Amino acid sequence: MIIRPARLIRGRLFIPGDKSMSHRAAMIAALADGPSRITNCATGVDCEATLSCLMKLGVSIERRGNELLVHGVGTDGLRAPAEPLDCTNSGTTMRLLAGILAGQNFKSTLTGDESLRSRPMERIIEPLRMMGASISSHDGRAPLVIEGHKPLKAINYDLLVASAQVKSGILLAGLSAAGRTEVIESQVTRDHTERMLRWFGVPLEVRDVEGLRAVTVDGPARFKAKDVSIPGDVSSAAYFIAAAALLPGSALEITDVGVNPTRVTFLEQLRSFGFDVAVSDVREEGNEAVGTICVSGSKTSSSSDSAASLRGAMIPQLIDELPLLAVVGSQIEGGIEIRDASELRAKESDRIAATVQNLRAMGAEVEEFKDGLRVAGPAPLRGASIDPRGDHRIAMAFSVAGLIAQGETEIKDAECVAVSFPEFFALLESVVER
Ligand code: S3P
Repeated sequence: MIIRPARLIRGRLFIPGDKSMSHRAAMIAALADGPSRITNCATGVDCEATLSCLMKLGVSIERRGNELLVHGVGTDGLRAPAEPLDCTNSGTTMRLLAGILAGQNFKSTLTGDESLRSRPMERIIEPLRMMGASISSHDGRAPLVIEGHKPLKAINYDLLVASAQVKSGILLAGLSAAGRTEVIESQVTRDHTERMLRWFGVPLEVRDVEGLRAVTVDGPARFKAKDVSIPGDVSSAAYFIAAAALLPGSALEITDVGVNPTRVTFLEQLRSFGFDVAVSDVREEGNEAVGTICVSGSKTSSSSDSAASLRGAMIPQLIDELPLLAVVGSQIEGGIEIRDASELRAKESDRIAATVQNLRAMGAEVEEFKDGLRVAGPAPLRGASIDPRGDHRIAMAFSVAGLIAQGETEIKDAECVAVSFPEFFALLESVVER
C-alpha cells in the first residue's frame, strides 16, 4: 500500500464494532442458555477466529453481515472439538478460550499462527492449573493442550501481568468453578468482560481492596441469552483521530464509538498535548459507554522543552495506542517518552522494536529502552518503506505517519490490517483530502 501525504481529513465516520467486546459477546453468548443476537460485531480476522473456534465446539452461529445469532448451549453444553482450535493471530481468542476450556470435561488444543505461537501463555496456564486444569505447552507457548476439569477449584489470584486477557480467562474459568473466584489487579485494565458478564445477568462484584481492584464471580454459573449491540472500536478510531489532530484544518466526527473509561486515555493524552478532541452525546448501551468523538486539526498549542511522559498505571489503558502515540510524539514540542511498557514486546510483534525501526526509517530521532522508547519532536518525517512485521497496529500507525510525511510511504504486507480492521484503507481514503 502506498500512502501519499494528506492535506487534511474531513468527514463523518462510523467505525466497525469493537474487537475486544465482540470476542467477549460471542463467547459469553455461546455459554448462555438460548439464542443471543449480536449486532455490529467486529469484522476482523481475529473475531472470525473466535467464531470459528466456537463453532468447532458445537455452537451454532448464524450470520448476516455484521449481525450474528449465537445459539448458546449453556455452560455445560460445549462439545469436544474434532480438531485443534486455530486462534490465528488472536491472543484474546486464545487466552479467553483457555479459561472456558479449562472448565470442560474434554480435551482440546489451542493453536495459532507463528506470531501467536511465539507469545507468552504461562501467564494464563499458571492460574488455570491452580484451578485444576491440566495444560501442556511448548515451554509456555502454544499449542496448548488443555484437559479440562469440572468443576474447577475457585481461586483468589493476584494478576502478575497487567493483562485484561488473563483477567478475563480466569473470570470465564470461574463460571465453571465451585465457589467464588477472585482476580485482583494492581493496575486497571479494560473491563469489558466484567461489563459483558453483568449484561448477561451473571452476578459479579468489583471491590476496592486496599487500593487494588478485586473482581469476583460465583460458579458454577448459569445464565440466559441476551441481545448485545457492539459500539464502534475506539482503538480503530484512534488512527483517524490522530491523523485529523495532526493535520491543521481537519474536521472529523466519529459517531457511536465506544468510550469506555479504560479505553479513552489516548484521547486524554491527545488533549494534554494541546489537540482539540471532544467527546459528546455519551450514553450507556449494553453496559458500555458510547458517544461521538469530534477532532479539529491544529498546530499544538503546548510548548514544552521536556518530552511528554507516558508511564506507570496509564500504560495498560493505552497499550494498543502506544505505537500511534510514538508517531504523534514525533510531531509535538519536546517529543515523547514511553516507559514501563515492556508488554509491548509481547504483542503481535515486538512493538517497541517495530516502532523504533520504522520511525528511524522515516528520519525521526529515537532512543530504544527495554521498556519503551523516546522520540524527539517536533521533527519532519520523510516517506519510507515500512515493515509492519505482520502487525496490524504497526501498519495502521505508520499509515498515519505516511499522511504527515514528505514523499511517499510504502506499507509492506499492508493486508495485515485485516486482523482488526479490514476496512481501514478504504475508510482512510474516504476522509483524506490531498
Ligand atoms: C485485549 C487486551 C490487551 C490488548 C489486546 C486486547 C483484550 O492485551 O492489547 O489488543 O481484548 O482483552 P493484554 O491483555 O495482553 O494486555
